[in-house]
Amino acid sequence: MAIKLTIDNQPVSVADGATVLEAAQATGIKIPTLCHLDGVSSPGSCRVCLVEIEGARTLQPSCVTAASEGMVVKTTSKTARQARKLSVELMLANHPWDCNACVRNGECDLQKLAQDMGIAEVRFPYVKPATPIDQSTDALVRDMDKCVLCRRCIGVCQDVQGVGTLAPRNRGFDTIVGSGAGDNLCDAICVQCGQCSAVCPVGAIYEKDSIEDVWGALDDPSKHVVVQTAPAIRAALGECFGLEPGTCVTGKMVTALRRLGFAKVFDTNFTADLTIIEEGHEFLTRLKKALADGDASVKLPMFTSCSPGWINYMEYFYPNLIPNISTCKSPQQMFGALAKTYYAEKQGIDPKDVVVVSIMPCTAKKFECERDEMNASGFQDVDYVLTTRELGRMIKQAGIDFLSLSDGEQDSPMGMSTGAADIFANTGGVMEAAIRTVYEVVTGRELPMDRLHVAPVQGLQGLKEAELTFQNCLDDWKFLEGVTAKVAVAHGLANARKVCEMVASGEADYHFVEVMCCPGGCIGGGGQPRLTSNDVRNARIKAIYAEDEGRPMRKSHENPAITQLYKDFLGQPLGHKSHELLHTGYAAKQPAATS
Ligand code: FES
Repeated sequence: MAIKLTIDNQPVSVADGATVLEAAQATGIKIPTLCHLDGVSSPGSCRVCLVEIEGARTLQPSCVTAASEGMVVKTTSKTARQARKLSVELMLANHPWDCNACVRNGECDLQKLAQDMGIAEVRFPYVKPATPIDQSTDALVRDMDKCVLCRRCIGVCQDVQGVGTLAPRNRGFDTIVGSGAGDNLCDAICVQCGQCSAVCPVGAIYEKDSIEDVWGALDDPSKHVVVQTAPAIRAALGECFGLEPGTCVTGKMVTALRRLGFAKVFDTNFTADLTIIEEGHEFLTRLKKALADGDASVKLPMFTSCSPGWINYMEYFYPNLIPNISTCKSPQQMFGALAKTYYAEKQGIDPKDVVVVSIMPCTAKKFECERDEMNASGFQDVDYVLTTRELGRMIKQAGIDFLSLSDGEQDSPMGMSTGAADIFANTGGVMEAAIRTVYEVVTGRELPMDRLHVAPVQGLQGLKEAELTFQNCLDDWKFLEGVTAKVAVAHGLANARKVCEMVASGEADYHFVEVMCCPGGCIGGGGQPRLTSNDVRNARIKAIYAEDEGRPMRKSHENPAITQLYKDFLGQPLGHKSHELLHTGYAAKQPAATS
């Protein structure tokens, strides 16, 4: 049923159940907000969206007030304007005024609100007691002095990720956003996905900054510093420079990285292609053992292992399903292991002098590279991880005019890749890339270009399913003749939990499941430019598919640099050297406070 109301003298019609804020947005009227976040239940705590409603005794927060028939709303009256301004002033009174030195300077929602409302001074004294900055994890920093208690971080952690690390603690003036039982994030079950940092409106939660470390390596003449860029960076980095979401900046990104001083600009896409070869063979091997050999110990479905936040989640919440996770390292870690062995050997460089820097859309990648087992090369395989946001800052620090850069090309051999690697960036992409290769390996037939996309696993639906029936298989794969493989794709950990529950209970009979920790996959990662709405996610996904479709090679097994890698160095998929460098294992874990 439609509701008719009036906002600022304009007639508006919205569906029953819509809030006043949604009604205003539907008619192009902007009401300022702070705690409200699309897709997450609004706490209605900040009072920045107050409006006047005829007949109501007090001003009402538009984000949690339901629109009703005949309602008359004023958003620009003096009373509403003054009340909203007071809400912001009170927040500023509890907020340190060190904007120039804050990581969010220039992209802080509170700063912007203060500017928009013409707040030039704060009339109230700053009385908030200082809280120590929490730097206890490898990925995230929490500065609770800057927290405005908007609870966006709590909403995304609980509603979207279903993890519930963050929760309000204490009452009244003493309220803070707490983490688990202890004071620091390391005391809590936190998967370090960084979704909290991607929605924090101020500088209260942010990625642990590695920019100075990377400058240090680049300034050291004894070091050979190489960089890899994850598939999702190219569709989002432009937003740091004012470009519209979904503007692909692959060539400018390469040129900028070269200008920053990296000796080689490589691509994580290279090892995304390699992941498909290794993971595809692992999947087929599991199927062979289960179906042809009748080995009941084989664990199916096989879960993908590219997303370190997802791996953390499994280690904390579903340790019994760890044997279902592919043993393949993530493309980031495969790259690091190969850069300090294969590449160093090929170039005649002592691996101790090779520094590997990753540009990742993900804060959990900072944690992943520090895991004890990620040193197959004899050194820490990946030295430093920068998020997309940090790379944007680094390019600005260097004074590079990003928008005027010409397009560059990645270096060989670890910069060569296919369209299948591009689509690792979005939910469903790893599955689609794997199907492109597995189909051709099993049947020996070429998949026509117009049948490369697997529509059921595309898009932003939380849980997606598809089936693949094998027919006319090659002799080695005859046991698959007529078999229908069931696959599923989940993104966002609340959706992943549903899959895990179905698998654990035996309700689901999937063979292969892709899980990405962040909503939308890596294009919506916790280290990407803020704020990531579904419109932004869709724009980035469109850009990634366009990148894939523009490639001459679109299947991982067609990558000649990967063929050469096996010929010169690895031998064969799942071979001895692959196992040494490219595969790993995981174990159940507890937060630091309880282990
Ligand atoms: Fe409505 Fe915060 S945005 S109360």
